[in-house]
Amino acid sequence: MANFKSLKVVDNFYQNNLFYPMPTVVISTLCEDGTTSLGSYSLVFPYYIAGKDYYAMILECRNSSNTAQNILKNNKCALNFIKDDRKYFKEAVRLGFPGKTPAEKMKDCNFELIKGEAEGERPLILKDAYQVIECTWDDKLENGYKAKEHIGELEGVEPPYNDFNGITSKFGCHFILKIDKILMEEKYADNLKNGLKANSFPNVPVDYGYHDSKNFWYKKFKGIRPTSEAIATSNACSVDSVMYCAERLDTKVKFTKEACEMYVKIPRPFMKAALLQIAEIAEKNGIDVIDREAALKIAEIRKNKK
Ligand SMILES: Cc1cc2nc3c(=O)[nH]c(=O)nc-3n(C[C@H](O)[C@H](O)[C@H](O)COP(=O)(O)O)c2cc1C
Repeated sequence: MANFKSLKVVDNFYQNNLFYPMPTVVISTLCEDGTTSLGSYSLVFPYYIAGKDYYAMILECRNSSNTAQNILKNNKCALNFIKDDRKYFKEAVRLGFPGKTPAEKMKDCNFELIKGEAEGERPLILKDAYQVIECTWDDKLENGYKAKEHIGELEGVEPPYNDFNGITSKFGCHFILKIDKILMEEKYADNLKNGLKANSFPNVPVDYGYHDSKNFWYKKFKGIRPTSEAIATSNACSVDSVMYCAERLDTKVKFTKEACEMYVKIPRPFMKAALLQIAEIAEKNGIDVIDREAALKIAEIRKNKK
């Protein structure tokens, strides 16, 4: 028997029953008087990552929070990812204490705020975030907009509840947030583009939530360099299997063996889609035969598209 103990799953299991590593995000929202309010959040994850009309994040929060109330009112928010710095984390914990109005919280706020880049009236963003996602709540999914009828009900909302977008329980809310803009501090944007090394990553705090009523726990990142783990070459496909796939594509474009050699590391389940995308780029650029040179050119085009 492995050395495990079974735990009773309780409310807020992610912090009461687990050591769950999470990002530390300060969310800015727009108040009715046009000012920006900040609240701290960790339950913020990618939701639609591909294959949909748009990209989205999901936020799980208390429906009576200033953040939820503001999103219900005007649908806008910005997800500001803070750097690992004690003073920022201290401020995030202060902004994470429930029960204060936006005006009370914001009067002593240490974060410098600036305008973002997404269109329309928006909350300000944190100047010193390493990355910011400016978002709009998609209130059409699951008729989430019906939650707007409950704005101002801060003592708990009565059923019925939605399953995943809008008010989802007496005190809970889920928001599917359409990504309007991703803003990245310049040096990290360059690092993403130019290839990553151990020192390319921002210092980010990893938090573990409230494990007791006294402390909010997190792990500092400063001084710790990310380590890379090579993807096993044994996972690579054979050139023959790439060629087999390439020859069966319903496209005019042809692939040479040298070009196929360059694609052996594409995981098998993605091979057909990747080759189709490569062929489509070739067609758009007037390439009939993808040889090594054309493959390099297409790789450059795909890289710039990212
Ligand atoms: C680092 C950190 C992460 C937090 N993450 C969440 C979260 O994901 N969801 C949530 O409902 N509350 C979370 N909280 C608690 C909220 O910050 C708290 O409810 C706060 O009152 C929200 O501020 P607001 O009312 O101005 O939106 C977190 C607190 C801290 C310090």
